[in-house]
Amino acid sequence: MIIAIDGPAASGKGTIAIKIASMYGLHHLDSGLLYRAVAKAVLDAGYATGDVAHATEIAARLDPSKFEENALKSQAITEAASMVAAIPQVRQALINYQRTFALRPPGAVLDGRDIGTVIVPGADVKLFVVASPEVRAARRASELRARGEVADEREVLADLLRRDERDSRRTVAPLKPAPDAHLLDTTHLGIDAAFRAALEIIEAVRAGRKRR
Ligand code: CDP
Repeated sequence: MIIAIDGPAASGKGTIAIKIASMYGLHHLDSGLLYRAVAKAVLDAGYATGDVAHATEIAARLDPSKFEENALKSQAITEAASMVAAIPQVRQALINYQRTFALRPPGAVLDGRDIGTVIVPGADVKLFVVASPEVRAARRASELRARGEVADEREVLADLLRRDERDSRRTVAPLKPAPDAHLLDTTHLGIDAAFRAALEIIEAVRAGRKRR
């Protein structure tokens, strides 16, 4: 079973993906970490985020087993990640890893922006998770504060909107729901309610398949 969970920044897709993966005993990949890791390596090496040749080279030799998730979640890396993610060659260099990950038995839950549209268009279930910008900003601000960063909610909101815009407008693999994705709005849902809503959609899709 392969489940694709896409959506804009801080929509709750990551939290849902982790819970769904553990519920079904599937592997989980937060694909955003790949772009974050490329961005961090590009910055650490002193290159600009628009340096296509170096960013592509770094993406091609990325070793996801060495990720330090905490170091990848800072605001500076987040912004840089969306810039390197707009480079088509960087995305291309990361496709194989993601597809191979998805095919590992017994299956996987992958979350990101283009999982259902580009990485695994044949996924068994596709969710597109959304929430209002204000709610997303409040969630992201409290996450950042929990990590010890200073977070002004208005600035976080502006960052989110800028990133959504960049992610939606890029020419390759823009942020958009696959035609067969199920929309899940978590604006008024807490973590448990969002998880249950996702589970309901997945179970309905699986039941429909069995009947056919
Ligand atoms: O948690 P949040 O949604 O803020 O970020 P993330 O999912 O870790 O993604 C960080 C950035 O990586 C996004 O703004 C996208 O530009 C990029 N990304 C992407 O292009 N494609 C993906 N499948 C996942 C992330």
